[in-house]
Amino acid sequence: MNKRLLVIGGNGFLGCSLVPRLAALPGVDVVVFDLVPKAQNAAVYRSAAAVEVGDLTDTARMDQVIERYRPTTIYHLACATVPASGMEGVHTDVSVNLAGTIVLLEAVRRYGVPEIVFLSSGGTVYGVVDRVPVAEDAPLRPISSYGIMKACSEWYLQLYQRLYGFHALILRPSNFYGEFHTSRRQGLINVALREIAAGHPVTVFGDGRVVRDYVYVGDAAEIIVSLQRTGVRDGVFNLASGVGYTVNEVLAIIRDVTGPFEVQHLPARPCDVPRLVLDVTRLSTVARVPSTSLRDGIAATWRWIRGGREDR
Ligand SMILES: NC(=O)c1ccc[n+]([C@@H]2O[C@H](COP(=O)([O-])OP(=O)(O)OC[C@H]3O[C@@H](n4cnc5c(N)ncnc54)[C@H](O)[C@@H]3O)[C@@H](O)[C@H]2O)c1
Repeated sequence: MNKRLLVIGGNGFLGCSLVPRLAALPGVDVVVFDLVPKAQNAAVYRSAAAVEVGDLTDTARMDQVIERYRPTTIYHLACATVPASGMEGVHTDVSVNLAGTIVLLEAVRRYGVPEIVFLSSGGTVYGVVDRVPVAEDAPLRPISSYGIMKACSEWYLQLYQRLYGFHALILRPSNFYGEFHTSRRQGLINVALREIAAGHPVTVFGDGRVVRDYVYVGDAAEIIVSLQRTGVRDGVFNLASGVGYTVNEVLAIIRDVTGPFEVQHLPARPCDVPRLVLDVTRLSTVARVPSTSLRDGIAATWRWIRGGREDR
């Protein structure tokens, strides 16, 4: 019998790169569940066995979908906030993101779903770190509502796993960039490229010396697929490149690709930690770490923004 993978939040940015790749695995059917009916990448519809529209916080709807498809793995990608939502996101972090995760865990328990993969956040759960790169066993000291929500979600996931014995894989991504990104609220590289394409200045918060770890979304999707293929079902893994760039360095690479553009400086945001690079040693024991260079990934994203916006 085919494996049945339920991707919750599968119509989003990561889902657009992940769903078609998962669906291409032999012996696999993918069902997408999302609040919105439409994905940026039409390949999501072409490759998914079914797309269900619904709200993760709706217990009856969640039960209905899980009862109908009896998934063998659930990928939990859904999230209604971004780190920059700041204190305005507190209510949604608790009432939608955290509560939705509990609804899902209850359904996993009731229907005996064997495994769940949760997309946490390597960029926010660690908070301000003493040194980089930061490994998975570093203390979790989030300084944003979003980071607190992701850390709490991990802890509930681990509590349910301990009590009910299913497999749980926690992935902590750094910052994705690449094709099929539409958010105006997060993602320095994509937002900057869109502004440049529109002839607008690029906004930089602070002095541009904040250090981040960027991972091309296609590489991230490949890694998640390879973990499914090789049967890695438990543990906590940073999902990152392991390399840090300042915002100013990223802008220099972008300038190389796009040509000149204007920069507008705004005050630094309190939710931004100064330096975050993730240690990928543990990841490298189970998967190939991301290999697309920042320049190549930015060039591919620029081509997508400027031109074809082709499906893949
Ligand atoms: N994009 C990044 O750089 C990044 C970095 C770290 C972690 N993450 C995490 O990875 C996951 C995927 O990120 P993304 O960039 O694809 O996010 P995204 O916002 O593009 O996609 C999330 C999807 O979840 C859906 N959703 C939101 N609330 C829902 C609800 N109540 N019920 C059902 N569906 C709902 C949205 O409609 C959307 O399609 C998220 O959990 C995010 O927090 C992303």
